Amino acid sequence: MRTSPYPHITFLTLILLILSLASAISLDCSDVRDDGVSFNFKALGGPRTLYRIREHPDGFINTTFTLDICRPLVKRKDVPKQEDCPNNSRVCAIERTVENLTTVIHPIPIAGEFSHSLGGALNPKWTRMKSSPSNADKEKEGVRLEMQGGKDSDGQEQKAIIEFLCDPSTKSDRRRSLLLAEDEGESGDDETGQDGDQNGEEVDDGHGGKLKLVSWDIEEDKKILRLDWTTKYGCEDFKDDGTGSKSGHWGFFTWFIIILFMGVAAYLIFGSWLNYNKYSARGWDLLPHSETIRDVPYLFRDWMRRVVNTIQGGGSRGGYSVL
Ligand SMILES: *[C@@H]1O[C@H](CO)[C@@H](O)[C@H](O)[C@H]1NC(C)=O
Ligand SMILES: *[C@@H]1O[C@H](CO)[C@@H](O)[C@H](O)[C@H]1NC(C)=O
Ligand SMILES: *[C@@H]1O[C@H](CO)[C@@H](O)[C@H](O)[C@H]1NC(C)=O
Repeated sequence: MRTSPYPHITFLTLILLILSLASAISLDCSDVRDDGVSFNFKALGGPRTLYRIREHPDGFINTTFTLDICRPLVKRKDVPKQEDCPNNSRVCAIERTVENLTTVIHPIPIAGEFSHSLGGALNPKWTRMKSSPSNADKEKEGVRLEMQGGKDSDGQEQKAIIEFLCDPSTKSDRRRSLLLAEDEGESGDDETGQDGDQNGEEVDDGHGGKLKLVSWDIEEDKKILRLDWTTKYGCEDFKDDGTGSKSGHWGFFTWFIIILFMGVAAYLIFGSWLNYNKYSARGWDLLPHSETIRDVPYLFRDWMRRVVNTIQGGGSRGGYSVL
């Protein structure tokens, strides 16, 4: 019995497969997949802020919501610890209660990876709207992100639900904005955070979309912050043809690897079956072209190098490198 002279080749392949699976489990804003549809919200990353004012007899409460869908919120240096959100927050509310001209500030972490602090896990969950069990959702185009983990000082558990909804009007505006972007170069991104005279419950996202506060109420046992993000990135057929869409490589290679494996497997199974029946072959002789197959590890290794080169360097180096 012979064993493969290059066991690490299969090992590498395994790692690649595991990597592509892992990206589906953690919160990766640039590689969102559900029900065979993928979205890329990388451009919407960075902290976003909304606020809402609630009047009461002796004053008002100004609640500021901050979220970042791509990475944990950065702690602000100039703010005392007890007035800021804890480490690893993704969505956080800061309540400023102004009463009789005094202000009380307290943070309420809504979602974040708090397994090692407050106790709750982020548990991000993406659901394609069209595949949702609810009929009202099925009519929408986009994807819903649910995150949890936070609770307020009374122990009330929190949750954030963000719906990224396709905005067809920004799609048709796209050609125009692309032309504008060409004229202005990179300066098009500078609008981020401009509120104008908006009331704080709805802000422009700087990419032609709008983030809107829908509600923050107790539903069943959790207090749920609902946000709607109307954006072209929520459209299922939206393709960012600009630069920097590295995830396209991943999608392509994942499929390539899967198809290659299925092809090879089918070939081997069918070939072995033929050899078994026609030539009564046994053991290694079962495999079709058993001589040629000994070269496969070498060919495959070269092919893997190219894959790795393309992923690392965007294929710019090309050819072979010393590995
Ligand atoms: C509420 O807070 C936001 C930022 O956190 C601020 O921009 C806004 O002016 C505040 N509004 C009032 C009425 O205090
Ligand atoms: C939060 O993170 C900072 C830096 O990463 C660290 O210095 C600090 O101790 C952390 N705070 C808590 C409460 O874990
Ligand atoms: C504010 O003043 C009102 C009466 O004017 C009083 O009933 C209330 O307790 C005061 N609140 C605080 C926080 O001092």
